[in-house]
This record gives sequence, structure tokens and C-alpha cells, in this order.
Amino acid sequence: MEKLWGGRFKKKINKEMEKFISSLSFDKKLVRYDLLGSIAHAQMLGKCKIINKEEKDKIVEGLKQILKEVQKGKIEIVNGEAEDIHSWVENKLKGKIGTIAGKLHTARSRNDQIALDERMYLKEEVLKIQDLLKDLQKSLLITTQENLGVIMPGYTHLQHAQPILFSHHLMAYFYMFERDKGRIQDLYKRINVLPLGSAALAGTSFPIDREFVASQLDFNGISENSLDAVSDRDFILEFLSASAILMMHLSRLGEELVLWSSKEFNFIELDDSFCTGSSIMPQKKNPDAAELIRGKTGRIYGNLVNLLTTMKALPLAYNHDMQEDKEPLFDTVSSLETSLFLMSKMIETMYINKEKMEESTKGDFSTATELADYLVKKDLSFREAHKLVGKIVLYCMENEKILEDLTLTELNSFHKDFNEDALNILKPQSAVEAKDSFGGTSLKRVEESIQKAKKILKQK
Ligand code: ARG
Repeated sequence: MEKLWGGRFKKKINKEMEKFISSLSFDKKLVRYDLLGSIAHAQMLGKCKIINKEEKDKIVEGLKQILKEVQKGKIEIVNGEAEDIHSWVENKLKGKIGTIAGKLHTARSRNDQIALDERMYLKEEVLKIQDLLKDLQKSLLITTQENLGVIMPGYTHLQHAQPILFSHHLMAYFYMFERDKGRIQDLYKRINVLPLGSAALAGTSFPIDREFVASQLDFNGISENSLDAVSDRDFILEFLSASAILMMHLSRLGEELVLWSSKEFNFIELDDSFCTGSSIMPQKKNPDAAELIRGKTGRIYGNLVNLLTTMKALPLAYNHDMQEDKEPLFDTVSSLETSLFLMSKMIETMYINKEKMEESTKGDFSTATELADYLVKKDLSFREAHKLVGKIVLYCMENEKILEDLTLTELNSFHKDFNEDALNILKPQSAVEAKDSFGGTSLKRVEESIQKAKKILKQK
């Protein structure tokens, strides 16, 4: 296929060099946006009388045909067939309508074209990701509601800390994902700006109408500075950063699913459809989806650092280095979308072993803080109370007792202010109910937070 340049060259391009610079194998993903952007551009050229109506009609018709054929799978984009997706489109157009195709590139450059294609692509993917995040939040909320009242150990340092509601634990993730959604919603505004019309770097001498193209392509604004528009990739970097944070959240949930489904925890069983077996150990059922979500987080971080490094210290304006932005972007989008989908399905289908969760909170001394709080309410300082209850725990351990076994006489041997009611606060259930502060784990507070979450999901 013909190149988009060559007039000033005497020699043919070196074969290795040709392969080295080609981006078609990956930027072919942008074909639809390249075609739609080109259609809008051609319509603008016609409207502004930069090309005549007949030329405009031919170009638009040709591009629409190519779009249809691409969508129906009638034409295949073969790697090596062109330097990049922009050259490929122009070549195909020339094949359909002849040399008039060459007029399409008036008042634009591949530099503003690629920035446009990427913005169009990312706008669509970001909306998909928002929906997937919402689906995951819904799965969390449903599981939360179905298991309301189930008590589990709450952990710090992965040691039993204080009993909590399982629903409270799940809702923690709901709110993490809500902030992820917020970050993505916010960065969408900055993607939604049209770079086309910046041409190579300086703008163009043709009387173009950028507002018209923006409205055709549903952009909310147009870029202010032509150099900036063709040379920055901060809109991708913002997306990769938000994705890295989101993946970090997913990896924590993934890790918990792995832990919880182990024999040691046995809090949940993941559905068979999201696990695999072992080729040697017939009994095995591995939590692969959760593990891989955890594992993919590494590449998502890598993609961010990759592009940050590529962009570092690049002089203005466009540099070919920037062609390297696409693979990390595409990889993040696809890994993220699959991870969100699978996580949501795993949460929706997992079996919750309520009995095992509740049993784990028994005899683990995780209500010791309640006992200290009790004494503080009798006017001891928290420090004193903490020390004294520490001694009670030690006494229990040395005498192979659990807190719930203690009698009032035993408690009084540590402090005279313990009364009958002190015995009731030692049950995990009472400890949970006592955590009634705003944002705490009591049933009432968790129910409140569920109501808020429902409202959040109803908003757009
Ligand atoms: N394939 C290029 C990229 O992705 C498109 C822009 C190329 N511009 C150029 N002048 N070679 O960055």
C-alpha cells in the first residue's frame, strides 16, 4: 500500500525500519473512530467550502462504505499492510473513490487525528467501565443485604481485632468503588475535548469550523492550544492512574476472596464456574479469577509507569515516542473490564458460610475492647482500663478460658466496678451492636449505609 509521505525521499525505506515504526498491528483497534472522525472532518471541509460538495459526498460515502464493511467483518486489516490505521483508511478510500481521497487530509495531520481517535475510544470505554463498576457495586449491595446480621471477625494485621458485620466489610468495598467511579467521572470531562483542527502542531491556514466537528462527534469542548492538543497524553495518564487505584482496590478484594475460600478460613465457597482444578491433585479447586485479578494489578501499575516514563521530558510537540501510548492503554482497558466483570460475578454467586464466620469470632478475645470501654464508662482512664483488661486476657489464656466464660467474681477480682451487665457485653453480637457511631458496624448503621448506597446507585 502507498505511504502518506515519500516525495522528498530518494531511497526506499529499510524493511526492518518499516516494521519497527508500524503501529497498524495495534492501532487497528481504533479503525471505527478513525473513520467516524474522518467522516466528520470531511463534512466540515464541505461545509466550510474547503472542498466542494461533490468531493465531500464522495469522500463521506466512501468512508461510510468502509465503516460498514469493517463492522460486518468484510474487510480485514492485515498487519504490515500500512504504516498505521490513518494510512490504511486513506488507502482503502483511494481504492474506492480514486485520487479525490487525497483531499480528506486537508487541514489535518496524523498528529491531531491520533489524539482524536484515542479520545473517542477512551470516552466509550470509560462509560463501559462506569457501568461495570456500578454492576459490581450492585453485586456487593445484594450480597450485603442477603447476609445482613452475619457476624465475622474484623481484622487488623490479619489478626482478629473486633467482631463486625460481614455486610459492613462488603460495604467498605462499595464505597471504595464509589470513589473510583468519581475519579473516572471527573477525568471523563478532560477526555471530552476535541483536538482535531490542531493539525500537525500549529493549527491550519484553512478556514475550518472546529465547533462543528465537536458537535458532530459529541465533544463537549475544543482544545485551546494546538501544540498542547497534539502533544499531551495526560488524559490517558489520568485514566491509567485512576485504573491503577481501582485495580489496587480489586486486588484487595481478590486477595480476601482467596483467603476466605481457603480451608483455614472457610468463610466462602466460590462458584465452580470461576475456579479451576489441578492437573495432578484431583481434589483441588483453585480461586483463579480472584488470583488473576490480584495478579493483573501488576501490569496495570506497569502500564502507568510505562507511559509516564515514555512522556517524561519529551519536547513539544508531537514525537514518535508517543505511539507507544496505545498498547498500555488498550491493555489496561481490557484487563480492567474483564476483572470488574468477573469480580462482580464471583461476588454474586459465592456461597457464604455464615456459621463458620460467626464461629470464628468465638473465644478470640476480640471483645476485649468492650470490657475496657465498660471500665472507662465507670470513670477509669482508657489507658488504665486497657492495661487491666490486658491482664484479664492473660489470665484467661493461662487458665485456658475465653472471655465469655468469665464469672462476675473473676471479673471483680480484677476490678470492683464490674457488675452483672459486664457479662453481656462480651458476646460478639453485643460488641457489634455497641459500635453505633456514624460509619460503625452496628446493624442500624449498616442499614443506614445500605439505604445511602441504594440512592447512590439510582443516580446516574
Ligand atoms: N501512529 C502514530 C501514533 O500513534 C500516529 C501519528 C503519527 N504522526 C507522524 N507524524 N508520524 O502516534
